[in-house]
Amino acid sequence: MTFRRKRTAILISGRGSNMRALVERARDPSYPAEIALVLSSRPDAAGLAFAKENGVACAVVDHKIYAGREEFERSMQVLLELHRIELICLAGFMRILTPWFIGQWPERLLNIHPALLPAYRGLNTHERALADGVKIHGCTVHFVEPAMDEGPIIAQAAVAVLDSDTPDSLAARVLAEEHAIYPAALARLAEGRLRVQGNRVFTSNPATEPVPSRVPLKG
Ligand code: GAR
Repeated sequence: MTFRRKRTAILISGRGSNMRALVERARDPSYPAEIALVLSSRPDAAGLAFAKENGVACAVVDHKIYAGREEFERSMQVLLELHRIELICLAGFMRILTPWFIGQWPERLLNIHPALLPAYRGLNTHERALADGVKIHGCTVHFVEPAMDEGPIIAQAAVAVLDSDTPDSLAARVLAEEHAIYPAALARLAEGRLRVQGNRVFTSNPATEPVPSRVPLKG
């Protein structure tokens, strides 16, 4: 079967470990998405070095030089169109997007969040989960909607919270799961196999391949 890989941009602001997981997965020519652009909102984002070293086109749209959110986003949109981008993955992209930008990318804009949404939207998710004493925590890949960390859920992975956990140790186990479910979720989207109905996302042909959620509840 021949197919055209979907041109995908990854938007970052910092470390870029999820970007790295996506770039590494997309090295496989049978993976249905190619990473055509890494776009950073910060010139000093550490993740840019990995993208450059690995021959991925990089761009910086420095949010600080723009008067407002929408001017910043219009610059990003021009670049995304120049690079003929079809899908976008937010990967530690720490700018809130306007309804205008999100409206340009219906069902084509994904985010990863370090919590089992709808619990723990926003920042410091691991600290908050530990403070609440939850026993199960995790991460979520979802379509982006205008409200922060909201939108139909594509995949989740759960991790057990251990008595010995600190925010850092919990974050590290959750991050390993992020790196597993994000490439799996992007693949389903790029294959055109996701259907959104209200808040629910269905994967076509689930008999042969399940939705890429994971529950590895070992510590
Ligand atoms: C990740 O843990 C991601 O889930 C989180 O930022 C981190 C970025 O790490 N995103 C959010 O909190 C979005 N609400 P990375 O730059 O190494 O991928």
